[in-house]
Amino acid sequence: PATIRLRHLQQAKAQGRPFSMLTAYDQFAAKAFEAAGIEVLLVGDSVGTTVLGYDSTTSTTHQDMLTFTGAVARSVTRPLVVADLAFGTYEGGPADALRHGVELVRAGASAVKLEGGAEVAPQVRVLVQAGIPVFGHLGFTPQSVNSLSGHRVQGRDRAAAQKMQEDALALQAAGAAAIVLELVPAAVAASVTAALAVPTIGIGAGPDCDGQVLVWQDMAGLSGFHGKFVKTFADLRPQLEQAAQQYRDEVSERTYPGPEHSFE
Ligand code: KIV
Ligand code: NA
Repeated sequence: PATIRLRHLQQAKAQGRPFSMLTAYDQFAAKAFEAAGIEVLLVGDSVGTTVLGYDSTTSTTHQDMLTFTGAVARSVTRPLVVADLAFGTYEGGPADALRHGVELVRAGASAVKLEGGAEVAPQVRVLVQAGIPVFGHLGFTPQSVNSLSGHRVQGRDRAAAQKMQEDALALQAAGAAAIVLELVPAAVAASVTAALAVPTIGIGAGPDCDGQVLVWQDMAGLSGFHGKFVKTFADLRPQLEQAAQQYRDEVSERTYPGPEHSFE
């Protein structure tokens, strides 16, 4: 199947065919998701909290993003590879955003994602003018976890829902190619989705977004995170634990390695 491009996501929205995005940070997961037909791979700054053991994505660095973006980009050809701009790499202004965005593209990203609304429209504009597609991210924005007082659903009251819609329209006007909506009431996400020409991609944002995204270790049952919006489509953590335990048992009993695993 052909390489996924922005216009395919646009067509999916137009035709009412929801598409899927998963995070990916390494070769074998990325290849499995490509084989499964996942349209978009997000090298999220969640690599910090999933792979690197940080408490928050505010600790994920630009260098982390370059390293893992390269790993994913080298591993697949079909999915669209989107990389997060790390906390602190774009808030200062368009020049900063452009410099870091260019480096993510050099590392293999086909698009970049940044968090925030109208206040980051100048950054979106300069990236788009440079030929770098930009995904926005509204609702709960993890890089602002400290000022948002934790992981909470956003846009619950009328004023906040109205502001989210205005921010989405501002990002679209600045040239954003798609907008992630995180922890947003389903009805609010549906109305933002209907108001936009570009696709929305939901995580904890109900069924009416144009696409969905999940952190892969959550949906595969490796992280042990069971937020309300997460469905665990596999149970990898207990399986991995069981495999490691059996390996250890067989080593201690000298049943592994056997003759079939040994050289004459
Ligand atoms: O970093 C990430 O995984 C994300 C998704 C949750 C959208 O930004
Ligand atoms: Na992110």
